[in-house]
Amino acid sequence: MSGTRGHWENVYATRAETAVSWYQPHSERSLEWIAAAASNPAAAIVDVGGGASKLVDDLIAKGYTDLTVLDVAEEALAKSRDRLDSDAGKVAWVVADITEWRPPRTYDVWHDRAVFHFLTGPAQQVAYLAALRAGTAAGSTVIMATFALDGPEKCSDLPVQRYSPATLAARLGPAFVLKRQADETHETPWGSQQRFSYAMFRRLS
Ligand SMILES: C[S@@+](CC[C@H](N)C(=O)[O-])C[C@H]1O[C@@H](n2cnc3c(N)ncnc32)[C@H](O)[C@@H]1O
Repeated sequence: MSGTRGHWENVYATRAETAVSWYQPHSERSLEWIAAAASNPAAAIVDVGGGASKLVDDLIAKGYTDLTVLDVAEEALAKSRDRLDSDAGKVAWVVADITEWRPPRTYDVWHDRAVFHFLTGPAQQVAYLAALRAGTAAGSTVIMATFALDGPEKCSDLPVQRYSPATLAARLGPAFVLKRQADETHETPWGSQQRFSYAMFRRLS
């Protein structure tokens, strides 16, 4: 098992899904932006590094029918599957490291909250961006949330690369045009605050 996978399997095996710093009862901004980008319930949506997030529950409730959740930790996806019970069959579950994943198809919406920021080395970032290009097409929407420039330097005891929407846009390159941006202060389950940058891009070509 890779170091990355081992770290995350251990996190999800030892912590309740509501007891991690990134827990959200509902991913309000992500839901709003996905709805704005994908009015068709048949739109293909992938949540990259979705973990045990309840975003997928809310997307199912909104009627989306082509949902994929990818995570490096099987344990995280198992939590979501257990929670969703009979609705779990409505989702494609993928256990993979995003830096090694070869998407078998493209998605209309690529969503990533607090995953890309763990990739602090150029080689990892290049590998992620290769997956992003393979998993999207011209017209696809990319929604990414990372720790902001004034956000924490670590998440889950791992160092992160912090971004503003503008520096994220620069990292994605000119094929991805910044359409929306927002700063968000996330409150952890124990009441501390974390500054996030949200950015929504449209792939041009
Ligand atoms: C901070 S959590 C965020 C989870 C979820 N996106 C959310 O907002 O609740 C980071 C997630 O990314 C996953 N992850 C970390 N590195 C990854 C990688 N290289 N490939 C795929 N998933 C990864 C972790 O297992 C974890 O579920």
